[in-house]
Amino acid sequence: MNSSLRKPLVAGNWKMFGNRAEAARLVEGLVASGAGSGPAEVVVCPPFVYLADVGRQLQGSGIGIGGQDVCAEETGAQTGEVAASMLVDVGCRYVIVGHSERRALYSESDDLVARKFAAASRHGLVPILCVGESLQEREDDATRTVILRQLDAVLSMSDIGTFARAVVAYEPVWAIGTGRTASPAQAQEVHALIRGRIGEKDATIAASLRVLYGGSVKAVNAAELFAMPDVDGGLIGGASLKADEFASICAAAGR
Ligand code: 13P
Repeated sequence: MNSSLRKPLVAGNWKMFGNRAEAARLVEGLVASGAGSGPAEVVVCPPFVYLADVGRQLQGSGIGIGGQDVCAEETGAQTGEVAASMLVDVGCRYVIVGHSERRALYSESDDLVARKFAAASRHGLVPILCVGESLQEREDDATRTVILRQLDAVLSMSDIGTFARAVVAYEPVWAIGTGRTASPAQAQEVHALIRGRIGEKDATIAASLRVLYGGSVKAVNAAELFAMPDVDGGLIGGASLKADEFASICAAAGR
């Protein structure tokens, strides 16, 4: 983290864990920790069904809410889907798009992810666009190609101006939930690649774009990752389910 242009951001992706009572306890702990009143911006992304409750509980805490996914379509006969307008309606400011679990488990293509990004932008939501290579792709020396392909799919559908209100998260698939984190140098290399690609289109937007790192971020390794010049915060999975741990990560981002 280096630029005063970029306020650090820490987003907690709860994935499909917990229940209503656990969500309430977690939020209580987060509010008590004061995580939302530090220098870093803090957001949590609970499962859809808990968004409204969590949003109400977080009021006045400085912590925001976001969705974990969004439908690419505006409205209509789309059983099981949630529209961008609905996320706005319950108070979301952010939405994760293109998480590797959506890409891998639900066959989301680069094109679908690009359409979801566009839908979020149209409604004033800040998309957190996830990109990341698998272990095989890294071993095949294809990291650069994969990241740029995922990013370019979005750039070909949405104007560069939309990136003025977007966040990119680099989440190497091999680091998600594995306890194996990218080294600060590995993260920095890909973050610089992402910022560079955006910079080819618009240097000002690139300079203010927040690029988050995600993949086994914990309180013990957060500070060294966030110290990298192009790492502007984190997208946190497992560690966002523990209030103290998540609060420590938020504090590390604010330093
Ligand atoms: P972990 O922090 O559990 O590795 O998950 C990262 C992630 O997928 C966040 O979106």
